Amino acid sequence: MMRTLSGERVARPPIWLMRQAGRYLPEYRETRARAGGFLDLCYTPELAAEVTLQPIRRFGFDAAILFADILLVPQALGRSLWFEQGEGPRFDPLTTLDEARALAGDEEMLERLSPIFETVRLLRRELPMGTPLIGFAGAPWTVATYVIAGRGKDEQAGAKSLRAEAPETFAMLIDRLTSATIAYLIAQIDAGAQVVKLFDSWAGALNDDPEAFEKAVVAPTRRIAEALRKARPGVPLIAFPRGATQAGYEKVLDAVAPEAMALDERTDRAWATRRVQARAATQGDLDPRLLVTGGDALKRATEELLEAYSGGPHIFNLGHGVTPEADPRHVEALVRLVKG
Ligand code: CP3
Repeated sequence: MMRTLSGERVARPPIWLMRQAGRYLPEYRETRARAGGFLDLCYTPELAAEVTLQPIRRFGFDAAILFADILLVPQALGRSLWFEQGEGPRFDPLTTLDEARALAGDEEMLERLSPIFETVRLLRRELPMGTPLIGFAGAPWTVATYVIAGRGKDEQAGAKSLRAEAPETFAMLIDRLTSATIAYLIAQIDAGAQVVKLFDSWAGALNDDPEAFEKAVVAPTRRIAEALRKARPGVPLIAFPRGATQAGYEKVLDAVAPEAMALDERTDRAWATRRVQARAATQGDLDPRLLVTGGDALKRATEELLEAYSGGPHIFNLGHGVTPEADPRHVEALVRLVKG
């Protein structure tokens, strides 16, 4: 994993999966029940470390990703967050300048997130040698879409219209999220995270507005990358502007120069190997649905993917997260195929 992130093409690509810890695993569901709920699980270091390690033990992935959530940052900034059973995250929507001004400072945020750093420290002690720990945060745009609309829905219309109608409020929110994200990732690195990933899951919602894409996706991501490189040089960064156009992915590549670029399942691999892999390791881009269905289709798609990216540094992953419907036996078959 670390050699691939330094730009080396290794004989067998490393493999890990987004959402490799999650509801598709019975041991995850059992631990979550023991914690009380999803957020309790995130804030209980021993149990969060346990669910991070479960897929490493069961499947032998080449990297671990900290068990937490991108929405813990806005929660620690003072926005109330809860999870609606079977539906997903909810916030009280942020819509006014006063609410944006009232967000907590970095110190208060870091104090509230201290259990997360304890999880990182526990993991660095417990992970096998050679299995690096990936820390992460949401990119400001994606986090803002949840904070503004109160949920992730309708092409992120809430965030888009706040940006148009209350630009000062929107800009203040993005600015606070950006500096909070820098402080949060530095603290994860100091606790032991060896790689960091920025999830911009809703970057593609701005594909129709290049100026907004530049200001809300590219610029904050650039600021985070530059601050991290300056404060903690040598820690590889994985960018993930999910759903962006090819031009959008290339803008992020130009502005951020990430060590790896995560690609979603709509990626044109001829473009990705020519334009992305020449400058960063690629990561992705298997369709997560194949882990529900398995069989020959999974085998063929995996072989095609390995072949397509074989000319340069590549990290095997999905185009998005493992779904709750995925079958652990198919995940096991996938890891065996890639490692073989
Ligand atoms: O990948 C991992 O294994 C690490 C942990 C992780 C989680 N969320 C755990 C989680 C990571 C890296 C995330 C990132 C995250 N969270 C993103 C960006 C990546 C993506 O999926 O696009 C987003 C948008 C969120 C916000 C979020 N958290 C949503 C929309 C949901 C509900 C959807 C769902 O799957 O239920 C969550 C909840 C969540 N985060 C779960 C997990 C394992 C499921 C909660 C449960 O156990 O019920």
